[in-house]
Amino acid sequence: MLNKIILTGGAGYIGSHVAVELLESGREVLIIDDFSNSHPEAVARIGDIANGNVELLERNLADPAHLADIAAAAKAFGADGAIHLAGLKAVGESVAEPARYYRVNVGSAMALLEALEAAHAKAVVFSSSATVYGALNDNPVTEDGKTGPTNPYGRTKLMIEDMLKDVAAADPAWRVCNLRYFNPVGAHPSGRIGEDPNDTPNNLFPYIAQVAVGRREKLLVFGDDYETRDGTGVRDYIHVVDLAKGHVAALDYLANRKHAGAVDINLGTGTGYSVLEAVAAFKRASNRDIPFEIAPRRDGDIAEIYADASRAKELLGWRAERTLEDMCADHWRWQSQNPEGYKS
Ligand code: WQD
Repeated sequence: MLNKIILTGGAGYIGSHVAVELLESGREVLIIDDFSNSHPEAVARIGDIANGNVELLERNLADPAHLADIAAAAKAFGADGAIHLAGLKAVGESVAEPARYYRVNVGSAMALLEALEAAHAKAVVFSSSATVYGALNDNPVTEDGKTGPTNPYGRTKLMIEDMLKDVAAADPAWRVCNLRYFNPVGAHPSGRIGEDPNDTPNNLFPYIAQVAVGRREKLLVFGDDYETRDGTGVRDYIHVVDLAKGHVAALDYLANRKHAGAVDINLGTGTGYSVLEAVAAFKRASNRDIPFEIAPRRDGDIAEIYADASRAKELLGWRAERTLEDMCADHWRWQSQNPEGYKS
């Protein structure tokens, strides 16, 4: 049983939902977060939602001066392994600031490996991304598809996947699962935790939610001339609670798996929805108007990508259960109850 888990980035959007599921699975959690893109209030609310032991270490994995503290805390906690979510995640920003993305994302992963080695906790579930596939594969995309990220953010994800695979190949005591997220959206049904970007949202759903709640005037739809059913981009949106449950299933798999090594697993629903379909679903869920305007395509966007999620079903016994309507209703409950995010 991998029972005592370090959760890096555990105060963030994905991390706070993973923390809730870890506690509900009976595990103990040590969150390591520097709050550069998250809020201490989220950690307090994790404790409101789920009973259990959640400890917090406010440190920056990418800061070499913090490494000794992190390694000492991992040993003192008695960590059995880690779920690694901490990192920078804005595609456009990564194109503008590539060196910072390599230093923070790859540096944090290397620091975590050192801390886990020191604590003899050789198990990692890594937050990877469907962005590693680029636009090289037919849909639905399987884990054996070609990889070819088209931006520095995606290249850091693939680099970390490969680093973890090399570590697992060199030392069979290591167990590694690279979870390739498709598009996480929605929020915990309590409405207490959710997505709260620091500034203008890069992603579709938080932007739509801020239009619905009146924080933004209108949505810009980045292109309606793609080769898709309605011309707008198609993505595999997955409810963040389904995604979080996938992390617990991955830990159970690593704990019980007979052989060591690394495995890549898609976390998606297998269904793609277009931008206009997402807008219509959000309008129905929120009963709010979502004004939008068609704008030019966004650099680096691909037309369509959605997952083949059969490996997650076969290996983890996991599949996504929540619908697009659930995603919109839960995202809206969070946003309407917290119009200014955690600040409110
Ligand atoms: C979805 C669709 C846009 C905003 C990226 C990363 C991925 C992950 C999720 C970090 C596209 C359209 C968007 C807007 C729009 N990142 N859109 N107007 O680009 O699929 O994935 O974010 O974990 O790794 O690659 O997600 O939500 O940005 O875009 O029309 O204001 O919505 O063109 O078709 P994306 P997204």
